[in-house]
Amino acid sequence: MLSEIKNICCIGAGYVGGPSMAVIADKCHFLKVTVVDIDSEKIDNWNNSNLDKLPVYEPGLREIIERRRGKNLFFSSDVNKTISDSDMIFISVNTPTKTKGLGAGEASDLKYIESSARQIAKYAKDETIIVEKSTIPVKTAETIQKILETCKKPEESISGEGSVFHVLSNPEFLAEGTAISDLFDPNRVLIGGENERAIKFLYGIYENWIAPEKILTTNIWSSELSKLTANAFLAQRVSSINSISALCEVTGANVSEVSKAVGMDNRIGKDFLKAGPGFGGSCFKKDILNLIYISKFYGLFEVASYWESILEINKWQQERISKIIVTKLFGNLSEKKIGILGFAFKANTNDTRESPALYICKDLIEEGAKLSIYDPKVNDEKIRLDLQKVITNKNHKKITTSNCVYEVSNNSDALVILTDWDEFKNIDWDKVNKTMRSPAWIFDCRNILSKNNMTKTNLNLWQLGNNL
Ligand code: NAD
Ligand code: UGA
Repeated sequence: MLSEIKNICCIGAGYVGGPSMAVIADKCHFLKVTVVDIDSEKIDNWNNSNLDKLPVYEPGLREIIERRRGKNLFFSSDVNKTISDSDMIFISVNTPTKTKGLGAGEASDLKYIESSARQIAKYAKDETIIVEKSTIPVKTAETIQKILETCKKPEESISGEGSVFHVLSNPEFLAEGTAISDLFDPNRVLIGGENERAIKFLYGIYENWIAPEKILTTNIWSSELSKLTANAFLAQRVSSINSISALCEVTGANVSEVSKAVGMDNRIGKDFLKAGPGFGGSCFKKDILNLIYISKFYGLFEVASYWESILEINKWQQERISKIIVTKLFGNLSEKKIGILGFAFKANTNDTRESPALYICKDLIEEGAKLSIYDPKVNDEKIRLDLQKVITNKNHKKITTSNCVYEVSNNSDALVILTDWDEFKNIDWDKVNKTMRSPAWIFDCRNILSKNNMTKTNLNLWQLGNNL
């Protein structure tokens, strides 16, 4: 029987597994933390002595890796052995939207969760606590528990005795780009579960750096549903302000002013009211699709259609931006060079999953444009790989990438700012002006530029939610 937690393992060394375990290792030196993954190249990169090669870019992450790696933080491809050695196992594998079969396009694909559970059932020792960190549909804990129960038969378990498992839900709320500060100082830590002892062990880890009033314990289903709901509410705010951005453009209102005025109401709050090219990232769309699927499953069709509309506005916003660019450039992009500034789905991350840039670049290429793309943290190989998935083969030669804003602007007809990197707030517009083809357009889809910095140029500026 477990008397204390000494060894913890995390299955999945991605954007959640890597940073969240690094922080646990940093805050709990008495724990040995091992992060495992089936992707051995990813593990090699986590172990690389060149910290520029870490698979995840997050401000503050490399310093923690430097501090703890090889001391109490390890990255390994030996999944089975690490499972056997662990008292507590976090599951942080990906849970993408199903692409085929029942629920395709909406339901979460739980194949990675299921394979992790089977591996745990087979290799875990006598008593182990399983912690769901991945975002999953409500009642997944039940599935995990069932797999563990049915596969733990003594003859199939490595110990030969069968094991006791306690499943807890502990969803992760970090946002990329601020993952480390979110993990150091979260708004709350949520633990859902039934077994008091197991909850106490997990609570015992977090209380090393998080105030007790911020650690919330609930029943397991509330915990699972809270995670989906939180993401859906955040996405809903972005779609709400994006819908208003279009109204601002036709009425002469300024969306930044409207956001400020609305957000100063304490009941509404100022966060997540920045208009932009639609929300991206690996989770908002997937988690809302999941909510839609669950709602339909329980016959709640009005609920499903409410959340569907949040996704529709998001797609509409991206298409709307592409159309505005085409219209401003005389309805024709053929052979025009357009510079794309930013490819990540938001600033301070190298993650491009569901980035608005993917869809806007695709639209512009299909209109005939040649694109030159620059992102401070997304390299040429990644940009090409991503775009290959959405454009036809013959269009691949229409893409070039660059390492600097001024190379991108050279001979361009337009620059389109799609990611809110700080670097783009400080562009030398006089320098850009000299290199672009006239009439040159700057499309500021993140509302980060100041018109005053451009007064001495003849650049045309379009800003989202701020034009007549
Ligand atoms: P990711 O794709 O970056 O990482 C998941 C990793 O799991 C991959 O490296 C994959 O190789 C590995 N994996 C899959 N099956 C495995 C197995 N059987 N054994 C070992 N490794 C396996 O995904 P992510 O962004 O870290 O997200 C993970 C989960 O966390 C998802 O459910 C997501 O919804 C949720 N989440 C993500 C974020 C975020 O900001 N990315 C924030 C909160 C929650
Ligand atoms: C989001 C949530 O914020 C996290 O709490 C959650 O843990 C995570 O999803 C997850 O489950 O994966 P993340 O997607 O990393 O985090 O980043 P956000 O800051 O939420 O941004 C999401 C998208 O919305 C980005 O494309 C961003 O540019 C956009 N956004 C955000 C806006 O357009 N306007 C805003 O005001 C805020």
